[in-house]
Amino acid sequence: MTIQTIKTTPYQDQKPGTSGLRKRVTVYQQPNYVENYIQAIFDCLEGYQGQTLVIGGDGRYYNDVAIQKAIRLAAANGFGRVLVGQNGLLSTPAASHIIRHYKAFGGLVLSASHNPGGPEGDFGIKYNVGNGGPAPEKITDAVYARTKVIDSYKMVDAPDVALGEIGVQHSGDMIVEVLDPVTDYAALMETLFDFDLIRALFASGFRMTFDAMHAVTGPYAHRILEDMLGAPKGTVINGTPSPDFGNGHPDPNLVYCKPMHDLLMTPEGPDFGAASDGDGDRNLIIGKNRFVTPSDSLAILAANAALAPGYATGIAGIARSMPTSAAADRVAEKLGIEMHETPTGWKFFGNLLDAGRVTICGEESAGTGSNHVREKDGLWAVLLWLNIIASRRQSVDEIVREHWATYGRNYYTRHDYEEVDATIASQLVEDLRAQLPALPGKNFEDDLQVAYADDFTYHDPVDGSTSARQGIRIGFTDGSRVVLRLSGTGTVGATLRLYLERYEAADGRHDLDTQTALEPLIAFADQIAGIKSRTGRDEPSVIT
Ligand code: G1P
Ligand code: ZN
Repeated sequence: MTIQTIKTTPYQDQKPGTSGLRKRVTVYQQPNYVENYIQAIFDCLEGYQGQTLVIGGDGRYYNDVAIQKAIRLAAANGFGRVLVGQNGLLSTPAASHIIRHYKAFGGLVLSASHNPGGPEGDFGIKYNVGNGGPAPEKITDAVYARTKVIDSYKMVDAPDVALGEIGVQHSGDMIVEVLDPVTDYAALMETLFDFDLIRALFASGFRMTFDAMHAVTGPYAHRILEDMLGAPKGTVINGTPSPDFGNGHPDPNLVYCKPMHDLLMTPEGPDFGAASDGDGDRNLIIGKNRFVTPSDSLAILAANAALAPGYATGIAGIARSMPTSAAADRVAEKLGIEMHETPTGWKFFGNLLDAGRVTICGEESAGTGSNHVREKDGLWAVLLWLNIIASRRQSVDEIVREHWATYGRNYYTRHDYEEVDATIASQLVEDLRAQLPALPGKNFEDDLQVAYADDFTYHDPVDGSTSARQGIRIGFTDGSRVVLRLSGTGTVGATLRLYLERYEAADGRHDLDTQTALEPLIAFADQIAGIKSRTGRDEPSVIT
């Protein structure tokens, strides 16, 4: 075997964002772009000689090309073994599980999540550490620094691995084991949920539809929902992964899953609808006549988790990202368990999960998960919902209403302004930041009084690290809140995210239209930040 050391020149734009390095495929196709980035990752790690690396992706365009490169780089750098999903597929939560289960040193997760795929779409590479979770900032910062000066990478001169063939192969001296992507993950799910109970639910005529959005969860959902749990064939739609996601946008929200939403709002529709994104870590939950916001879903799953065998002894704590609504906080308070507010991005949950301080985590961006892996997990959320529905013998709508009647309702929405000019967006944030010190005590829109206004700084209680400038928060005396931050996952221009929340007590009104209920806060946010006038947009690109 020959290990070649190949000269390269650095790229200056390989800065990992909220979730790895996401760029247009055309950017990734530049000479040595993949090689530089993966070599830079390896250069920032220590102690991996002879160890195992997991590699898998969501099957999007360029997945196969990047995986072959990654395998050759891993072999040349001295990894002992690579575990790779068949056909290069591993959902992000399954990759996390496989890293943990086989005690791998780490893993490369190739995905741009919910961003469109195909030759004109996006691609991404993320490094996960040995706990199965995304690398912490100290690693991603070091990788970025390394990419700016890298001058060579190491590759073995070996043929492509046959990714379709399950079993053991070699790349140079390194073992490459191609795994069935579903088996280990499905076995894990069986330990967490009452499969007999869910099977009985389907056998009793309960109907659901699961939209895999032509992305990675297709094989997982077919196997688990239809083969193992007995849901009728056809329950899973768009279940074959395709490199361009059927030319769609694999983001499970009310824009891209509108037909399913509309179906669930009709009497003929199924009892339950769910979807997952490109790489299988996000979820959308809709009951008959009831869309469940991700923030409410987190709170309801946490409040009812003990109904599932994997959580029967109770949960240690809950964590949510800062922009996520405070609905879960009320559950934690009632359960008398820890509650943590972290910056946006799953990587901030890792320490809390590892330390056993929290069991369930969630983000408003349709991400929920638990300590079973170190990523959010779309199918996990769907299965926990099914377990809860089967145990309580109630509809989603009944469960949600009872939850509000117990804890109150947090009306919640997010307005995204996508592909805004980056300079305008950062100026907008800077100007708003400058106004913050003067806001507390001021009144707006009749009865909104500002209680606090700051740029969120997180102090990690486990490792003592600090992450500053994580989003502007303006809180009001009645518990309402406006949050504004720039996306860290966009690939073109800037995406401005505006998060709005208002609390209505347990005995208050729970049947208002969300946008109407939040109207005064929407008006306030526009007034204070000048969003419409500065961006020239009349309305958000996406409302979730
Ligand atoms: C977005 C979401 C965030 C999520 C991330 C990765 O990041 O807001 O909650 O963790 O995608 O799926 P953002 O683009 O806001 O930085
Ligand atoms: Zn995702």
